[in-house]
Amino acid sequence: MSEERYLTFALGKGRLANKTLELLEQIGITCEEMKDKSSRKLIFVNEELKLKFFLSKGPDVPTYVEYGAADIGVVGKDTIMEENRRVYEVLDLGFGKCRMCVCGPASARELLQHHERIRVASKYPLIARDYFYNKKHQTVDIIKLNGSVELGPIVGLSDVIVDIVETGSTLKENGLEVLEEICPLSARMIVNQVSMQMETERIKSLITKLKTLCQEGSI
Ligand code: PRP
Repeated sequence: MSEERYLTFALGKGRLANKTLELLEQIGITCEEMKDKSSRKLIFVNEELKLKFFLSKGPDVPTYVEYGAADIGVVGKDTIMEENRRVYEVLDLGFGKCRMCVCGPASARELLQHHERIRVASKYPLIARDYFYNKKHQTVDIIKLNGSVELGPIVGLSDVIVDIVETGSTLKENGLEVLEEICPLSARMIVNQVSMQMETERIKSLITKLKTLCQEGSI
């Protein structure tokens, strides 16, 4: 196996990328270039370790990884589920923990129990559809929103929402609550399917080191 080829990482911009870089540093993988916040560069290289890193919008990370533009990606489980790309999900990094939930006013609870045709607003239409149609066998109308989804039930756009709940304070401050939990979420490492075959040793060694860090509770 050649060490000459670059391994490329796609990281979801923001907290996820910062946390990922922190933990890569703990296993000796650094990228000094990326620390210069004034830089407008989009791609950063560690020549010594033959690694490249780039930051992209979270939902684009699985796309870059599926097409092999990046070998490895770090992104939230929510994005992996919603984008539904052909990639290997290889590791739960254990940070960025939150939950995907059905939320709404307490009064909406019975609409869920009686399988009524309700309106569901979400930034995650695929996850919402899968949950209601395939798990609950409830026919609903899904309305795609791009953010501040909690507004849905407040302004009368929808009966409930499917959204991420972390601390629960956004719900609380808006008179809403968790009605049903869909699944737990956290940051995951994904790998391109061909890269996994071609660069097995390098990628497996990386996964093992990160797994050890997770088990030590250093993340
Ligand atoms: C996310 C999510 C909730 C909020 C949950 O929104 O969509 O609105 O965080 O966090 P909490 O339980 O700690 O209050 P985000 O801040 O990403 O912005 P968005 O509403 O524009 O999607």
